[in-house]
Amino acid sequence: MTLENIEESRNLLHSQAHIWNHSLSIINPMLLKCAIQLQIPDIINSHGAPMLLSELVQALSIKPEKTHFVYRLMRLLVHLGFFITKSASTNDEEEKEGYLLAPVSRLLLKDEPLSIRPFLLAFIDLMIMDPMQNMSTWFQNDNNINPFHMTYGATMWDFALKNSNFNDSFNEAMASDARLVTSVFLEHCEGVFEGLHSLVDVGGGNGTLARSIAKVLPNVKCICFDLPNVVKGLKGSDNLSYVCGDMFDFIPKADAVLLKWILHDWNDEECVKILKRCKEAIPSKEDGGKLIIIEMVVKIDEVGTKSLENQLFFDMMMMMIYATGRERSEKDWAKLLIDAGFSNYKITPILGLRSVIEVYP
Ligand SMILES: C[S@@+](CC[C@H](N)C(=O)[O-])C[C@H]1O[C@@H](n2cnc3c(N)ncnc32)[C@H](O)[C@@H]1O
Repeated sequence: MTLENIEESRNLLHSQAHIWNHSLSIINPMLLKCAIQLQIPDIINSHGAPMLLSELVQALSIKPEKTHFVYRLMRLLVHLGFFITKSASTNDEEEKEGYLLAPVSRLLLKDEPLSIRPFLLAFIDLMIMDPMQNMSTWFQNDNNINPFHMTYGATMWDFALKNSNFNDSFNEAMASDARLVTSVFLEHCEGVFEGLHSLVDVGGGNGTLARSIAKVLPNVKCICFDLPNVVKGLKGSDNLSYVCGDMFDFIPKADAVLLKWILHDWNDEECVKILKRCKEAIPSKEDGGKLIIIEMVVKIDEVGTKSLENQLFFDMMMMMIYATGRERSEKDWAKLLIDAGFSNYKITPILGLRSVIEVYP
C-alpha cells in the first residue's frame, strides 16, 4: 500500500465515523429520556453515596437478569457526562465502583426547583420528532406552512388549544425554563428594572417570570399577558395580574415590556408588528419607557463552538415548529428594532446562550 492509499483509507474511515456519530447520536436524547422516566437521577441522588449497580437495579425494581442492560445504559450516560463513577465501600470483589450524579444532572431532578426536566420531556416527544421526520417533504412542498402544521394540520398554537396534554406539557416546559432564567436574571440584572413602576410580560405563559419579578420588586406592578387558553383561571397577587389577548392587536400599557422567547417564534414582518404594538404600550425613553428582550443573539463568528451549535439547533427547532420563526444575529436584531422605530439598544450576554437586549424608543 502506498502512503497515499493509507491516507485515503484513513480519511474514508474518519468520514464513516463522523457520519455514524452524527446519525447515531439520536440515541442520546432517547436514552436520557429513558433514564428520566425510570427516575435514575432521583434514585442515585437520594442514595447519598456512590450507588452500586446491583443497588440501582434493585431500587429500579428491575429484574436482576436485566442488570447487564442497566450497566450498558449507565455506561453511555457516564460517557455523556450525566453521571460519574466513584469507588464505593463494598465487600463485593466484582463491584468496586458506584454511580454519583454529575453536577449537570442536578437540573434533571424531579424535586429540584430549577429542574429543566419538563423541557426535556416536552421536547423529546413524538409531537416534535414526527414533524422532524417530515422536513424533506416540507422542503419540497410549494405551500409555506411549517413541518409541524404539515404533520398535525394546525399551527402549534391552534394544536395546543385543542390538545390539553400538549398545552400543559408545553407551558410547563416554558415555565421550567423561566424559573431557571429568572433565578440568574434577577440575581445579575436588577439594574435592568431600575426606575420602573410597571411592567408587562408579553407572551408570559403561566406567569413564572412575572410572578418572580413581582415578588422581588413589590413596588413594580406586573402584568402577565398571553392567549386566553394559557392564562385562563390563573390568579394574580397584589402587584401581579393576568390579562389575556392577542399581542398583534393590543398590549396593555406599562413602563416596560418584557419579551422572553417570543420574537424567535415569528418572521421579521410579524416581529415588526409586535414591536410596534410594544412601542405603543410604553412611554418615551425620557419618561422611562423600554423593552426588555430575552433571546439568543446568534454568535455567527464562533464557528465550531458548542454555543453556536446549540443556537443553530434552536434555529432548526424554530424552522420546524413555526417556519417563520428563527434565531437572529446582532445584525438581524438591529434591523428589526430600527424597522419598528426604536432608537437604540444594548445587548448584555448574561444568560448563557441567550442575552438581555434592552431597547429604547
Ligand atoms: C415560546 S413561549 C414563551 C413563553 C414565556 N415567555 C417563556 O419564555 O417562558 C411563547 C408564548 O407566546 C404566547 N403567544 C403566542 N401567540 C400569542 C399572541 N398572539 N398573543 C399573546 N401571546 C401569544 C404563547 O401562548 C406562549 O406562552
